[in-house]
Amino acid sequence: MKKETRYVSTPIYYVNGEAHLGHAYSTVIADTLARYSRLKGHETFFLTGTDEHGEKVAISAELKNKRPKEFCDEVSATFKKVWKKFDISYDKFIRTTDNEHKKGVQKAFELLEKNGDIYKGEYVGYYCVSCETQHMEKALIDNEFCPDCSKPVELKKEESYFFRLSKYEDRLLKFYEENPDWIIPKSRAKEVISFVKEGLIDLSISRSSFDWGVKIPEYMNDPKHVMYVWLDALFNYVTALGFNNDFDDNMHFWRDQNTIHVIGKDILRFHAIYWPAFLMSAGLPLPKHIATHGWWTRNGEKMSKSKGNVVDPVEVADAYGLENFRYFMLREVPFGGDGDFSQDALIARINGELASGLGNLVNRMIGLSRKYTDYLVDTIDAKKYYENELKEVNQLLLSAEEYYENLTFHKVLEQLWKPLAIADGIIQRDIIDNKEKSNEKIMASIALVATILSKVSILLHPVMPKTTEKIAQLLGFSISSETYEKYIQNDELLERVKLSKIDTLFPKIDKPLLEVVKIETAKKVEDIVTHKEFTKSIIKVGRVLEAKEIEKSNKMLQLKVDIGEENPRQIIAGIKKSYSVEDIVNRLVLIVTNLEPKPIMGLESQGMLLMAQHKNKMVLVAPEKDIEVGSVVS
Ligand code: MSP
Repeated sequence: MKKETRYVSTPIYYVNGEAHLGHAYSTVIADTLARYSRLKGHETFFLTGTDEHGEKVAISAELKNKRPKEFCDEVSATFKKVWKKFDISYDKFIRTTDNEHKKGVQKAFELLEKNGDIYKGEYVGYYCVSCETQHMEKALIDNEFCPDCSKPVELKKEESYFFRLSKYEDRLLKFYEENPDWIIPKSRAKEVISFVKEGLIDLSISRSSFDWGVKIPEYMNDPKHVMYVWLDALFNYVTALGFNNDFDDNMHFWRDQNTIHVIGKDILRFHAIYWPAFLMSAGLPLPKHIATHGWWTRNGEKMSKSKGNVVDPVEVADAYGLENFRYFMLREVPFGGDGDFSQDALIARINGELASGLGNLVNRMIGLSRKYTDYLVDTIDAKKYYENELKEVNQLLLSAEEYYENLTFHKVLEQLWKPLAIADGIIQRDIIDNKEKSNEKIMASIALVATILSKVSILLHPVMPKTTEKIAQLLGFSISSETYEKYIQNDELLERVKLSKIDTLFPKIDKPLLEVVKIETAKKVEDIVTHKEFTKSIIKVGRVLEAKEIEKSNKMLQLKVDIGEENPRQIIAGIKKSYSVEDIVNRLVLIVTNLEPKPIMGLESQGMLLMAQHKNKMVLVAPEKDIEVGSVVS
């Protein structure tokens, strides 16, 4: 019989920064789903990877003074390292700079084009580089900020190819109507439907103002166009399966239509509107679900590097234990909702549920078996004494499985703790408080507890793989699709076993283990500088004699600045987005003149131009009145 297939994906992560809590969350959810699917014996494919093209990544590389590919190689490798640490069981890690992917996206472009859905035009509109999204003017906040991330948008005007998104409006609406469960949680479908109902405009899908992207197919004879990063990125879900190569049978994972895309709510529009429209145009089937999780905040605020409140998942996992952290992420927040990260909440879950709940029950079972049965567990009489309890446990486990299928992980975990409470109650009533207990009944009670622990461990395995395997080893089995079938599907009781050893599973934690500073990367701590240190910097008044654009840089200008020395200084300044060549020539500026020279974009910068900056806005700092060049600022 052909096995059922499941295909689970995470978003592919932008390489403009390293992995943070939000990325870890998407990935742990998808990993849990993939592990659950394997446990059930489904043929499973789990994909993650990195999204490496586009303006945002190109700018980040430029700021680091690196070539884009070199920069992407480095950051992509850091994601792989974090996922290894997080025990992420992916089958493939795709990079959009992979050749097979690039060829696959070109093939997709060709399909869309041959279907009459691509035409050439001019894109004039507002663009948010941070979200890599175009916006209509009416959607902007205060006419200048992105409605999604609040950063300033840019007005763009460039030749571009367009995808006829508007053509798919009716088909999309019909699809949502016929598939009300397509988006998980269901409640999120409303915002998608109303966005489409407001009217879709055609989507600009190529860029000609920079070249860090996949070139549009050669037969288009238009080599200056690279593809829009979201067109490139979304197709990763099929190129990873060998879409480009007709002989690769991994494409059956797509054709079987059992795909679940795990994403965050901020990228729902791309997955629920653009992606199905692209797929319809390319003649490919649609995924089964778009599973949309909420956002983690810190003290109620959005995490962002500029605020310095980003939680570093590796620090947290190192301090609190990886699997405790995985448990926390899934238990703390109902799927789809937002959650606030705090060490206190994490400690409360570890102490209250893991240590006092699961860990304590394991210890009690070991203690009692040592005292009464010489570590022997034998379920021979468990049914005789505990038929009702076993039935109840079975019902609870069945409902935990339903919750898994609906991705309501917090309910899965809530449900799995109920049998543990039953086991605790039995120990108390039938062993501790019972003065007339027979040996047979004690053995049955211990066996019931062990059986409950075995079953709960199997269903908890996708969330806490190593911890549950330790419990299974203690109970004489290993967790696999076979033992899942035996103990969960067929509801068998544990086999006779002598308990082996186990280390303490969940040591209690009495105080936060990380200083707040430690879990927050890029924390803005203003270092104190002494007067002596400060006066080491020499700042002089200069006049810009010449300014030039730098090829391939959309941030930098090359300036020649007279600072009263024999020769003008060459300064490479990241001001192009705020000042044109004409704006800057002849202006008085301030230059730090005794900085060590630094190569930027292959040119030597011999000083630093002083600017005032707020978010993406930059203005020149200059003397208030005219004064001779070379004057020293003090
Ligand atoms: N590259 C795109 C995805 C392309 S998929 C074809 C992208 N990348 S991302 O790196 O910016 O974000 C990836 C995921 O991280 C998104 O699902 C996003 O929701 C998630 N998170 C980023 N910050 C988050 C939180 N603070 N909380 C929870 N998840 C958030 O978007």
